Amino acid sequence: MRAAAACFACHRFGNERGMIGPDLTSAGAHYNARDLLDQILNPSKEINEQFVPTVITKTNGDTVTGTIVGLGNDNVTINTDLSDPMQKVGVDRKQIVSIGPFKVSPMPPMLLSSLTESEILDLLAYILSGGDSGHRLFR
Ligand code: HEC
Repeated sequence: MRAAAACFACHRFGNERGMIGPDLTSAGAHYNARDLLDQILNPSKEINEQFVPTVITKTNGDTVTGTIVGLGNDNVTINTDLSDPMQKVGVDRKQIVSIGPFKVSPMPPMLLSSLTESEILDLLAYILSGGDSGHRLFR
């Protein structure tokens, strides 16, 4: 399904192997259509606790956000792009003012904006059914 391809770049779903976000294979057991749509439209409203990014604030006011991948004596290493594990920034501990949870989800919010209404309904039905594309939301 074309609409779903964008999701499975990040999400695992049946045989699709996106590794960046949570496994959606059993999303149908956790969400009704309304809640699923809400999660897709507003990823930052309720961030899955295993995927909450970190924000480091530095003495010069700059911030670095991402996932902490290394804690050295002098340095903290942070991966700033979930889709690229090589994308790392080292921050000198002496320059760190604070480290805390970042309130913005790594999942982009505008994913559905290029889809038609029927594509969106098909996508929701597909995910809720666990991959059965014959499934219909409203029948
Ligand atoms: C760039 C990567 C990326 C893309 C593309 C993406 N997601 Fe996500 N998604 C994530 C991450 C990371 C999380 C976990 C953080 C959060 O809860 O916001 C997440 C969370 C979710 C959740 C909540 C699941 C949970 O266990 O908390 C749902 C539902 C979801 N995504 C559905 C979708 C759908 C449907 C699409 C396609 C329209 C999509 N995502 C596209 C990265 C992505």
